[in-house]
Amino acid sequence: MLVSFFSLAQNRLIVNTDQGDIKINKHIYGHFAEHLGRSIYGGIWVGPDSDIPNEDGYRKDVMEALINLEIPNLRWPGGCFADEYHWTDGIGDPAERPKMVNTHWGGVTEDNSFGTHEFMNFAKKIGTEPYITGNVGSGSVEEMSKWIEYINFDGVSPMADLRKRNGQDEPWGIRYWGVGNESWGCGGNMTPEYYANEYRRYATYARNYGGNRLYKIAGGANNWDYNWTEVLMKNIPLNMMDGLSLHYYTIAGSWENKKSATDFDKETYLETLRKAAFIDELIKRHGTIMDKYDPEKRIGMIIDEWGTWFEVEPGTNPGFLYQQNTMRDAHVAAISLNIFNKNADRVHMANIAQTVNVLQAIILTNETDLILTPTYHVFDLYKPHKDATLLSHDLKSEEVSFGKEKMEALNVSTSRSEDGTVNISIANINPDKKIDLDVVLRGIDAKNITAEYITAPAINSHNTFENKEVVKKAAFKDFKLNKENLKVSVPANSIIMLRAK
Ligand code: AHR
Repeated sequence: MLVSFFSLAQNRLIVNTDQGDIKINKHIYGHFAEHLGRSIYGGIWVGPDSDIPNEDGYRKDVMEALINLEIPNLRWPGGCFADEYHWTDGIGDPAERPKMVNTHWGGVTEDNSFGTHEFMNFAKKIGTEPYITGNVGSGSVEEMSKWIEYINFDGVSPMADLRKRNGQDEPWGIRYWGVGNESWGCGGNMTPEYYANEYRRYATYARNYGGNRLYKIAGGANNWDYNWTEVLMKNIPLNMMDGLSLHYYTIAGSWENKKSATDFDKETYLETLRKAAFIDELIKRHGTIMDKYDPEKRIGMIIDEWGTWFEVEPGTNPGFLYQQNTMRDAHVAAISLNIFNKNADRVHMANIAQTVNVLQAIILTNETDLILTPTYHVFDLYKPHKDATLLSHDLKSEEVSFGKEKMEALNVSTSRSEDGTVNISIANINPDKKIDLDVVLRGIDAKNITAEYITAPAINSHNTFENKEVVKKAAFKDFKLNKENLKVSVPANSIIMLRAK
């Protein structure tokens, strides 16, 4: 009997490089900035009079980092905050803007100095598409409808005129609108039947202006609340929505004790990664319900909040959700993004929570400086997957186990860029063992391989203001190409992006 060399290999990956017809929507690599803790204030916005280097009030260092990442969209103003936010408080002369209490997040005073114009200008400066969530919980249909008119109407109308008086002649033409947030919880504690009706009212008056067709996103389920998805899909006419959201956070331990972001053992590490990978099952199960009503998969599953949620850093405000970010977070990001890619026929957008200083942040700041977290570097490595064609593959991977936890050590995603380059992201979650991986590139005569990676000595390695480059992106060279066969030595605790042409 003939046994091929590759079927003997313990770890092997076969990539069908010349197949595939599903595009990985670049919006899967989206972000989220809420009025929460030091996300907006101090993280993005310091005001034009600040000593912190800024451009028109926006932190220069943060802008630069986000421009480099080419983030496709940014969700704002929340989160739970969105359902308490009244947009008219955040326009006009900043000195005249009313203040409010941010009851969800630390009970601090929100002075509304960062409002619609500040957000829209920021999105323009960093070259990203805005995604706004309207207030359904404590707002009104009229309020949201007028916000859309203010932002998008190009003719003469009370709201368009008000926008012009506030210094913006041209409409911004925003496409992505969320109709409420977590309406089953902080967004109004509604039943799915009640929210479905509310959605229909709000969506009716969310008008298209000036040839701009809105992409309306209904507030979807939390975790495994499949009934929520079923009721919404059944009760909302399909032509009234474009997306249905899903929120899923990865915790270690329980909600009551979410454990430290930096101090954890190997079993907890693997528990966290297993829980992150659970989103695959959620996508499948919610997706099956969506398929029943929308077999064409026109409606996007919009995972507009995902990421890790640990205990806050000691000594920080518990309402500010400020946590450190380690190689464990990097692996959570790699696994999650690989899963979103794999389900790209249904997952049309995703937004990591959150961009700066909150939860699984890609950037942490203090008064004078900034850290790019390991999660930032994963998004940086994964750039080639954006808008690339998803490729099917077959992976055989050894396992890694600690205590009662066990997972496959390798986690992979494969895609083909428009110019034919094949992209392979590989995470080795085993913190202790380098893995030799045999890769078969079927259908391409690759001549040239380039690769970058991140790695670190420990699963809790992270960057600090004192040492900002413990985890950083570097060139990766430990591979050998022989015709269609590629041998890769995947370092322990690493994430690689290989590109074959
Ligand atoms: O991202 C933090 C919070 O988590 C959001 O405000 C809310 O939507 C979710 O519960």
